[in-house]
Amino acid sequence: MLRNIKSSASFKLFLICVFFIVAAGVAGNVGQGVASSDENADLKTMYGPRYGDGKNLILPEGYANWVFVGASIGLAYSEETRGDGPGVFHRVYTQPEAFAAYQRTGKFPEKTMFVMELYRPEQKVSPNKQGYFEGQRVAIEVSVKDREKFPEGWAYFNFGNGRRTEARPIPKASCYDCHLEHGADDNVFVQFYPALREVKKNLSTPTAETGKEKKQ
Ligand code: HEC
Repeated sequence: MLRNIKSSASFKLFLICVFFIVAAGVAGNVGQGVASSDENADLKTMYGPRYGDGKNLILPEGYANWVFVGASIGLAYSEETRGDGPGVFHRVYTQPEAFAAYQRTGKFPEKTMFVMELYRPEQKVSPNKQGYFEGQRVAIEVSVKDREKFPEGWAYFNFGNGRRTEARPIPKASCYDCHLEHGADDNVFVQFYPALREVKKNLSTPTAETGKEKKQ
């Protein structure tokens, strides 16, 4: 009799263990579901564009902590000849949530922003004998994907060297048109940013909006 009780007690223990193992599995799956809706929640809490007067953009705060997608030096969009030297350094940032969404889906979500800082090259400050480093900042340019505010999708702003904290949208012909025509994906020069240009190739199901990246 005692043995039976004991064995039924250990059977109960066994059942309890099974219950917990199954429950842990279910909780794990539920957890995964929560994670994916968290990803969308991320976009809801993403630092988005803030506007001043009319369609004026306020310089985004804290962008230096965003994802650094790439840098270039001396890329020039105008025919103006420049003096000697490598040209200006460009560095480009986007919000971490927009970056994560692009990695997940291959699309830039609404309210994506890119900040591009431009730095004048400097050289030969001791101990350097060769090469260039970033000297004075000469400009901060920002692009914003916000269809509610700008029906064509993207708008472009120039904050001077950063002392200006509010900027007017720049006419389409000055910025948008070149981005639309030459940017590899959705007005963005993905082809020049190592952190972004591999994304489409790595996504198993192509989700290209325009198919423009075929040009690359
Ligand atoms: C003739 C083509 C051309 C014009 C006009 C142009 N851009 Fe760009 N833009 C580029 C290229 C090329 C890049 C790639 C990155 C770089 O320059 O380092 C770029 C990158 C950018 C980026 C980084 C995000 C992205 O879309 O790749 C911003 C922000 C930006 N430009 C703002 C502006 C603003 C503001 C204007 C108008 C004052 C402007 N651009 C006009 C060619 C152009």
